[in-house]
Formats: sequence, C-alpha cells, structure tokens
Amino acid sequence: MRYAYKGITSLFLASLVAGKVYFKETFDDDSWKTRWVQNEDSKTYKDFETVSGLFNPNPSNKGLQTTVDNAFYAISAPLDEIFSTKDKTLVIQYTMKQEDKFSCSSNYIKLFPRNLKQKELNFSSHFNLLFGPNKCKAFNQTQAFLTYNQKQNLLKKQVDTTADRFTHLYTFIVKPDQSYQILIDNEEKASGHFFDDWNYLEPKMIPDPKIKKPINWVDEEFIDDPEDKRPEGWDVIPRYIPEPDSVKPDDWDEIENGMWIPVLKENPEFQEWYPKTIRNPAYMGPWIHPKIDNPDYYEDNDIYVQEHAYVGFEFYQVDGHTIFDNIIITDSIEEAKAFAEETKVDINVEKELLEKYLSEQELIKKQREYDEAKRMEEEFNYGNYKDDDLEFLNNESSSDEEKESSSDDEYEGSSDDEDENDDDDDEFVIYDDKKDKKKKEKKNKKDEL
Ligand SMILES: *[C@@H]1O[C@H](CO)[C@@H](O)[C@H](O)[C@H]1NC(C)=O
Ligand SMILES: *[C@@H]1O[C@H](CO)[C@@H](O)[C@H](O)[C@H]1NC(C)=O
Ligand SMILES: *[C@@H]1O[C@H](CO)[C@@H](O)[C@H](O)[C@H]1NC(C)=O
Repeated sequence: MRYAYKGITSLFLASLVAGKVYFKETFDDDSWKTRWVQNEDSKTYKDFETVSGLFNPNPSNKGLQTTVDNAFYAISAPLDEIFSTKDKTLVIQYTMKQEDKFSCSSNYIKLFPRNLKQKELNFSSHFNLLFGPNKCKAFNQTQAFLTYNQKQNLLKKQVDTTADRFTHLYTFIVKPDQSYQILIDNEEKASGHFFDDWNYLEPKMIPDPKIKKPINWVDEEFIDDPEDKRPEGWDVIPRYIPEPDSVKPDDWDEIENGMWIPVLKENPEFQEWYPKTIRNPAYMGPWIHPKIDNPDYYEDNDIYVQEHAYVGFEFYQVDGHTIFDNIIITDSIEEAKAFAEETKVDINVEKELLEKYLSEQELIKKQREYDEAKRMEEEFNYGNYKDDDLEFLNNESSSDEEKESSSDDEYEGSSDDEDENDDDDDEFVIYDDKKDKKKKEKKNKKDEL
C-alpha cells in the first residue's frame, strides 16, 4: 500500500518539481575557499589547491588537487541543507583525474553526519557513506558503503577502478527500494540490492547447527587409479646429470679434497611419472549443509536512510596530484546526468594534450642538455676545463639513449618554461656538429700537449 501510494505521488510530483540539488561544486573560482575547510593540523594534513592541470582541454575549468605525494588529506564542506534520504534517491557523483600516475592512491569521497568537526576531520571521523576508487598496485576497487548500525561494510562485488591519467566520472546511486547502481563514465559497472551485495543484515537462512557432515561422506570426486603402476624401467633416465663442462681437474687430490663429484644439472630427458586419475566410484557428491531460518534475522527496509550534512575527502595518498571536480549530491538521477553532460571532459582531447605535454617536456630536457653542453664548451674555450668534464661529449651512447627515453618518467618537469618552438630540433643538429668539432679540437689540443 505504502509503495503504491508513493509511486503515485512521485509520478504526480515529477512534473511539478525538478530534483533537488544539495551540493554542487566546480571549483572554478576562489569562492570554494569559503565553503571548504581543511583539517587545521597543517603539519599532518597537506594542502589542496585549485588548478587547471597540465593537460586540460578547457584551462578555465579548475579542479581541486592534492598537492604532494605520500600525504594525509582532510577537507570538507557543508551541504546546502541537510539531506535526509528517507524515501529519496541519493546520487553522489564527481570526477577524478589522477594527473600524474594512478598506481597507489585513495580517491574516494565521503558523506558525513551533522556532528562532524570539520577542522578535526581525520581517519576516525564517523562518516555515513564512502564511495570511489581505491587502488594500490594490483589491488583496485571502486569502493562503496554506508555505515549501518556502526558497521562499515564493503561492497562484496569487485568493481575495477580506472587506472589511467584522464578524467573519469564516478557515480553512486542509492534508491529507496534499497537497490543501488555504480557507474563509471556513465556506464553501469555494478547494480543490485543492499541485501545481496553487502553484509548489512544477518543472513535469512543459516546452516543448521544441529546437523554435521557425516564422517564417512566421500566428496573426493577423482582419485589416483590404483591399477596404474609405474612402468618397468621408467626410472632408468636419471633426474640429474653432470654438467658437460664439469670435468675433474688434473691435479685433484682425492686424499686432501675427497672424492671428486661433478656439478649436476636437471636432465631435460627426465619425466616425472604420475598415475592416471579416475572417477572415484565411492564419490557421493558434495555435501550440502541443510539450512534453517536464521533466528537473528530481521528485515530492515531503511538501511539506506541517513542524514548527510557534509561532503569531504579524507585519505592517505601515495600518488598525489589527483584532481577532483564537478561534485554533485542530489536526489535526482536526471540532475546528476545533466550536470555530467554540462561539465563533460573529452578524454580523447586530454590524451592528445598529454602527448603534447610529454613531447614538450622532452624538448625542455633536450634544451637543458644543450645548454649544459654549451656551458661546458665555454669553459673549455677559456682553457679552464678538466678532461673528465668533457668526457661525456665523446660519449655517443649516452646522448643517444637519453634522446630515446621519454614517457611518464619525464612528467616531473616544471611547466613554466614551455615556450618551446620547432627550432629546437635544428639546434640539435648544431649541437651534434659542435660535438664533432669539439672532439677534433680536443684531439688537436691533446696532440699539441
Ligand atoms: C581525530 O579527531 C578526533 C576529534 O575529532 C580526535 O579525538 C582524534 O584523536 C583524532 N585522531 C587522530 C588519529 O588524529
Ligand atoms: C583491478 O583488479 C582486478 C581484480 O583483481 C584485476 O582483474 C584488474 O586487472 C585490476 N585492474 C587494474 C587496472 O589494476
Ligand atoms: C657513457 O655512457 C654510458 C652509457 O650511458 C655510461 O654508462 C657511462 O658512464 C658514460 N661515460 C661517461 C664518461 O659519461
């Protein structure tokens, strides 16, 4: 009855009332500083700042970035009003860009109750909900949970995180029928029901504690064939054989050194013998523990009901430089979709810009090498050089190798001196010429001495 009634109301209301937005943040101007509060312990908790980022298709669109690697972060902002989710859908959505590399980092967002002390936000601060990617080396999971009866239960499904350096949209939807959805870049990655995918409630049925598995139950489906015997002469081929080049030294003294034994190696001809496996005639199938109703089970259709007052980021990051942006907390899936559309970032453009950025970094590096070579040359001309200083100019292999090395490792470079142009390659020709000339000069000089 309750549901039928609600269905009618929401149908009726949908045409009158658009969804409600409880929080929206784009970090595009400095006003975010009036909304967000960092943990005041600035020794432990590192700063966030707003940046356009190194390869942003729309540089005026800033995001909130964690500034350093290997650091704790804690920042939060109040929602525009308390979001009581009773009978309401909750959508929490944001973008995450692991601009540097995404090898080990927690990038989830949290919702907090009224009693949060923003300036003291830390790992043990009680939170209502956690959602977002968490990755360290091979482990990666888009985590999602609500706190229920003081319990924080992780989603039991594996939802892979993204792993690249581009902007990705993470969306968590919780509906009053206790179903949920996780979307990444607007694509559904998981969905289901709170009862099934988390351990919030006691299970409905439990194995009957009065029944035990019979001792003589045979659940071994396959056994070694007792008829199958090792063939005669199987072990004629030895497992280890002497290394062919291990020969007894002529001057080996058996009295002093004992008997000479050659170095052994695995014999490639050797084969282990295994008996055939056959189906066990006594096999009884898997034993199934009969279940009974769990006396501790109770139903709760309000697991999802919470009062959210603050949103925030609280985590430790190994890889920093994450850019968070376009946060929305709303009771309307449509609002969240529209906001995502409005703030959409084209990953393909980001990819192009990243390529460009990396090649610029490469040019900057080459320019530095060139400048350094030139500096050395000048010192040389003044005659106050040391042979070692110039040695690298003769070292063909090292300069070639450095030209080839590129990619992610070069990311660290500063982006300030980016006014490179196409002349750089030409300069490199000069550099090479000079190098040859220098070699000759140096040789002549040596000859003179
Ligand atoms: C976290 O903050 C609370 C106060 O909100 C404080 O009592 C607690 O000691 C803090 N924990 C850590 C690890 O700093
Ligand atoms: C994420 O974890 C899953 C499950 O362990 C694994 O199959 C997948 O390759 C991982 N992805 C990345 C990018 O590490
Ligand atoms: C020459 O280059 C090789 C390979 O990069 C390097 O190992 C070696 O130290 C270099 N020698 C000098 C004198 O720079």
